[in-house]
Amino acid sequence: MKTVAAVVDEGSTELELRELEVAEPGPGEVTVKFVASGLCHSDYHFLDGVLGGRKPIVLGHEGAGVVEDVGPGVTRLRPGDHVVGSFVPTCGSCRYCATGRSSLCDLAADTMNGTFPDGGFRFHDAKGQGYGSLCMLGTFAERATVQERSVIKIDPWIPLEVAVLAGCGVPTGWGTATRAGGVRAGDTAVVYGIGGIGINAIQGAAYAGAKFVVAVDPVEFKRETALKLGATHAFATAEEAAERVHELTWGQGADQALVTVGVVDEKVVSDAFDIVGKGGTVVVTGLGAPDDLTVHVSGAVLTKWEKTIKGSMFGTLNPHYDIVKLLRLYDSGRLKLDELATKHYRLEDINQGYADMKAGKIIRGVIRHDR
Ligand SMILES: NC(=O)c1ccc[n+]([C@@H]2O[C@H](COP(=O)([O-])OP(=O)(O)OC[C@H]3O[C@@H](n4cnc5c(N)ncnc54)[C@H](O)[C@@H]3O)[C@@H](O)[C@H]2O)c1
Ligand SMILES: [Zn+2]
Ligand SMILES: [Zn+2]
Repeated sequence: MKTVAAVVDEGSTELELRELEVAEPGPGEVTVKFVASGLCHSDYHFLDGVLGGRKPIVLGHEGAGVVEDVGPGVTRLRPGDHVVGSFVPTCGSCRYCATGRSSLCDLAADTMNGTFPDGGFRFHDAKGQGYGSLCMLGTFAERATVQERSVIKIDPWIPLEVAVLAGCGVPTGWGTATRAGGVRAGDTAVVYGIGGIGINAIQGAAYAGAKFVVAVDPVEFKRETALKLGATHAFATAEEAAERVHELTWGQGADQALVTVGVVDEKVVSDAFDIVGKGGTVVVTGLGAPDDLTVHVSGAVLTKWEKTIKGSMFGTLNPHYDIVKLLRLYDSGRLKLDELATKHYRLEDINQGYADMKAGKIIRGVIRHDR
């Protein structure tokens, strides 16, 4: 079976459309026809060199679609089921899955290279060259063969072009605030970077009952959107935010600082560390190049003020439980998703979508494979 896919070759800084062969689903695998794919900044990190891995690779790790075919031994899904891809797989039996921490599932070890646990590929070109599937998904393809463990069955009445956001941006941001950050009623939470991830950290912090939810982003449209979706304050710079948070909290500082900027650097982590008060928590969810040392803080302040700095993947949530839960919150009107997909693109316009993301014009761009 053939598909069109947006791929990146070694040394390339743009996505290119290519026709590829999609493998038949093997044991425990399903073939999904993607209807929508979200443009997350993490995919862009494979174009700007912040993240690396084996290439060529089909990018895309936020996707929603319909199961077309199932391989031997698949019991949880059948053709016609509506699914959202999860960029962290859930094996269910590794040390982390077994203790309710699927965001750390051991099966994710090679997902940046796009290989599957058997070391093989599920996309090939006409010459037989294997193409990786980012995060074992590759949602920038109209069709992909993926593991049953990488897709979550969702309620069929939820529009797929909305549900797509529950594959990465929504849980990652929401969980950064509610799980990793542990925002509680009455807290003051600051979110640095209002993209597809940060806007959901704003929604999560507000839903958890934070008294003050402070957004920091240099782009005015981002700040305006944050104020519409739960932020109580919004500032263009970390310095303005620090001054106001100091006043709002009578000098005690914020309870959480959530770092969701596009590329994490030392300044934003230091600003986040400084803005939280005693017992405060900094969550670093945004990514930077693995060799960049971005955390340089006073160990004495860390100790004496009992501050915490932690990383978070997938908002430290569990895909099989939390993706369904978040979409049901949307269904009940408590979580806003329609407002997040600012613009829809055809797959052939994907580089334009990323240019718009870089220019700060969109919260989340969404590819519609059905157009
Ligand atoms: N840990 C995870 O599980 C996970 C999952 C998905 C994405 N990510 C990472 O999260 C980050 C955000 O992704 P996204 O898709 O929301 O990106 P995005 O490009 O849509 O949004 C980033 C926002 O940060 C703002 N920004 C940039 N520098 C800033 C600064 N110094 N201070 C304040 N705001 C700043 C930009 O204006 C933009 O609005 C990326 O690094 C991405 O790779 C991590
Ligand atoms: Zn993502
Ligand atoms: Zn596991």
